[in-house]
Amino acid sequence: MTPIITLFNQSGGVGKTTLTMNLGYALARFSLKVLLIDLDPQSSLTTFMGIEPTELSETLYDALLQEKDLPILSSIHKMDLVPTNINLSVAELELVSALNREGRLKIKLETVRDQYDFILIDCPPSLGLLSVLGLTAATHLLVPIETEFKSYFGTGLLLDTVARVRRHVNPFLSFAGFVPMKFDGRRSQHTRTYGQMKQELSLLGTVFTPIPDSTVFPDAAEDRCPLAVFKPQHRAVEVLSSIAKELIQL
Ligand SMILES: Nc1ncnc2c1ncn2[C@@H]1O[C@H](COP(=O)(O)OP(=O)(O)OP(=O)(O)O)[C@@H](O)[C@H]1O
Ligand SMILES: [Mg+2]
Repeated sequence: MTPIITLFNQSGGVGKTTLTMNLGYALARFSLKVLLIDLDPQSSLTTFMGIEPTELSETLYDALLQEKDLPILSSIHKMDLVPTNINLSVAELELVSALNREGRLKIKLETVRDQYDFILIDCPPSLGLLSVLGLTAATHLLVPIETEFKSYFGTGLLLDTVARVRRHVNPFLSFAGFVPMKFDGRRSQHTRTYGQMKQELSLLGTVFTPIPDSTVFPDAAEDRCPLAVFKPQHRAVEVLSSIAKELIQL
């Protein structure tokens, strides 16, 4: 069965969207068919992929709330994308009274799942209903965590949310692992936090090799392309590829 991997962390700016796009590309480079889902009304993934959110005629919102098919944009950087725009921000309110609200994304993904080898879902930075939709649809959870004390501190809250989702809507949700983000090995707080992550989180899932802190990531995003296209020789490309290889073993 096609793994559906949701990238989730309620902390903002840890690198969820960057990781979604770059891991998707790393998987696509292994000739795998990858679908990316933008579940964040901020539409960063849609934008990073080079699509202008305000110009979209149909988005994820229409599939979740207007009973339309998933609007899939094909072959962008070797991947397919379900785009989003700001319309999705009202979905959280509209879904409150909807039937089977938590299961809505899951049901939509079932209709296309067999066309893909991997589906990656980029969540918004919140513990709200949209993230719950992403966690309900997932077979696996991948958690990017900034290697800063403050970001790591929020992991307890995240684990509580995952436990609630497992209890109520998705008992089979498992951890694909944890990805230390924006790691600078020269900073003692980063090496300390990374050590703590390995010690405490390895019990739950793989703690992957850290993604280095580098301005090349915002530069690649500004250029609307994956790092491996923007700067193929960058050392983070190999790290991303090694994580993708481990995901293939799921
Ligand atoms: N490894 C990295 N090193 C340096 N900057 C990075 C790295 N990864 C991502 N960034 C930058 O950090 C910023 C936030 O990244 P991104 O949008 O991927 O985070 P996010 O968790 O999806 O944010 P949000 O919570 O708003 O959805 C972007 O400018 C991105 O280019
Ligand atoms: Mg994001």
